[in-house]
Amino acid sequence: MTDLSLPEEPTAPDVADGGVWLRCIDCGHEHAPFEEIIYTCTECGSLLEARYDHYPTFDEFTGRGVWRYRAALPFEEGVSLPEGATPLHEAPRLREEIDLRSLRIKHEGMNPTGSFKDRGMTVGVRVAQELGVDRLACASTGNTSAALAAYGTRAGLETLVLLPAGKVAAGKIAQASLHGARILEVDGNFDDCLDIVQELADRGEAYLLNSLNPFRLEGQKTIGLEILEEFRDDEGRFPDRIVLPVGNAGNTAALYKCFRELLAAGELADSDVPKLTGVQAEGAAPMVEAIETGAENTERWSDVETIATAIRIGNPVNAPKALPGIRQTGGTAVSVSDAAITDAQRALAGEGIGVEPASAASVAGLRALRERGVVGADEDVVCLTTGHLLKDPDAAAAAGSAPESVANGTDAVLSHLHD
Ligand code: F0G
Repeated sequence: MTDLSLPEEPTAPDVADGGVWLRCIDCGHEHAPFEEIIYTCTECGSLLEARYDHYPTFDEFTGRGVWRYRAALPFEEGVSLPEGATPLHEAPRLREEIDLRSLRIKHEGMNPTGSFKDRGMTVGVRVAQELGVDRLACASTGNTSAALAAYGTRAGLETLVLLPAGKVAAGKIAQASLHGARILEVDGNFDDCLDIVQELADRGEAYLLNSLNPFRLEGQKTIGLEILEEFRDDEGRFPDRIVLPVGNAGNTAALYKCFRELLAAGELADSDVPKLTGVQAEGAAPMVEAIETGAENTERWSDVETIATAIRIGNPVNAPKALPGIRQTGGTAVSVSDAAITDAQRALAGEGIGVEPASAASVAGLRALRERGVVGADEDVVCLTTGHLLKDPDAAAAAGSAPESVANGTDAVLSHLHD
């Protein structure tokens, strides 16, 4: 039985270290956090989440970026580039077109390596230092590998990344490569890469920094803290809904944890909790399938395909944490076509917000749900855009207009313009 509730006045178990411990979401077994390397429950194999002896209120947060929220994190500081404090844009033309009370775009592409992964990595690499490992590894659709490479090298650690051959956008490979990761291209998809890297980690070859690692999600929950804090300060209320692209469902799980911790701290009432709304591409939608069928977990899709390569994932490892999040907040999940994703990418670009295809899935999903009346016109909605336009220059160029050749000379340019 999944127990996702958090006690209002938690008591640290004996295994806690500095007020932090790991708890299995299924059997409730509690584990020491930094004594030995574990990613999943040693008793039942299920997912772990970090627990604390204190859940802070908003007035305990000081500073800027991810580490502003140190009172809600396992350490006071970490290897920082720095990350977080991303813009919460207005998008007036999109708001009007979709017809909503308000629409804000939380642009996570503005993090140092161009995606939200930096938030998880600053915390994850700090934990790796605590554990004394010397090599970090991940499987990746691209963005995790870029963040791992940058934060790993900053910390002076070796980095190894496994990528699905031919399915990672150019900008991401360039980042991982220049930041000095050893890159292995596997003849398989992301889920195969994750199977392999989990084996490598279990055999002690490297420290795993995919979102299966519960500490990655601690960093990523600061997306929710930033959104809710900014809404509270500017609007005096919280958003009704947060719409996000879903791959491994790490962010969905992290946002749900953020809400539960604010509930435990007394900062959020049950009625204030934003509805978590996940969006997947039609060709890679096991979470949507599980929400639609009411299944307790996802079925693995072995064949996945989408232009949104970042979320080309058939086996979302965080589904057991994320599905209750979607259900218990009253949210939903929806799939969208590649054409709808590209349309949304253009619409965001038309507001000056440059995102990669996976990010645009959030807006494409919002459009679809608003059209079906699932999202109401009276809602305040935040869409998460998870990665920067330059991550996937090929997709951006294909979605944009083609450059025109002109002869070298003002008259030639003018006559071309006036043609
Ligand atoms: N958006 C982007 C741009 C991503 O890179 C990812 C995941 C997601 C959304 C999905 O987030 O897994 O938390 O549901 N990218 C991973 C990677 C898998 O390897 O970079 P999630």
